Amino acid sequence: MDIVWHDHKITRAERAEPKHQRPCLLWFTGLSGSGKSTIANALDVALYQRGYHTFLLDGDNVRHGLNKDLGFSDSDRVENIRRIGEVSKLFTDAGLIVLSAFISPFTSDRRMVRNLFPSGEFIEVFMDTPLETCEDRDPKGLYEKAREGKIKHFTGIDSPYEPPEHAEVVLDTSRQSVEDCIDQLIGYLLEHGVVFESR
Ligand code: ADX
Repeated sequence: MDIVWHDHKITRAERAEPKHQRPCLLWFTGLSGSGKSTIANALDVALYQRGYHTFLLDGDNVRHGLNKDLGFSDSDRVENIRRIGEVSKLFTDAGLIVLSAFISPFTSDRRMVRNLFPSGEFIEVFMDTPLETCEDRDPKGLYEKAREGKIKHFTGIDSPYEPPEHAEVVLDTSRQSVEDCIDQLIGYLLEHGVVFESR
């Protein structure tokens, strides 16, 4: 490839320094309806209110723009996650705390994203909400359509979800309130020096 990598004059550490935070990627994974968007949005608000610089990438929105050429075949899902991983990396390079909420059903794709980041910067948040709860909620009516065969390759129904075995944070919104989840996440971020007590 005739393309040469250029190092920036301003390092990523220098970009993060005035923001007084440690950039990282919080990667929310789980079934449709498991609470990824709800919890990622609530954490985004909680961090914003404390003065942190964040950015939220959300499955449904990214699929309207950057990834509108992609569907839900296995290979399109791989490409979806690859692009989002790279975009998340750019935002962390810019010094931000990034929250990404995508089903990301395959272990190998999540590992690929993890490997883009220095150790400790990729924080996997597994939304371990049981399928029955997600299906009961069915906020977009998609499970019903999938059960009727009107949507093919729907995750959890006729397309697999591989649960993470070593997620940094595990949440279950069938048993935990939004507040509980946010407390657990902020606790993790404090403990690992991503954010600081005084703010
Ligand atoms: S991923 O598998 O490639 O990570 P992503 O998070 O971007 O999925 O998009 C999932 C969202 O797309 C779901 O919340 C749902 O609203 C919608 N969707 C439409 N068709 C499907 C499908 N076959 N499987 C899963 N989600 C689908």
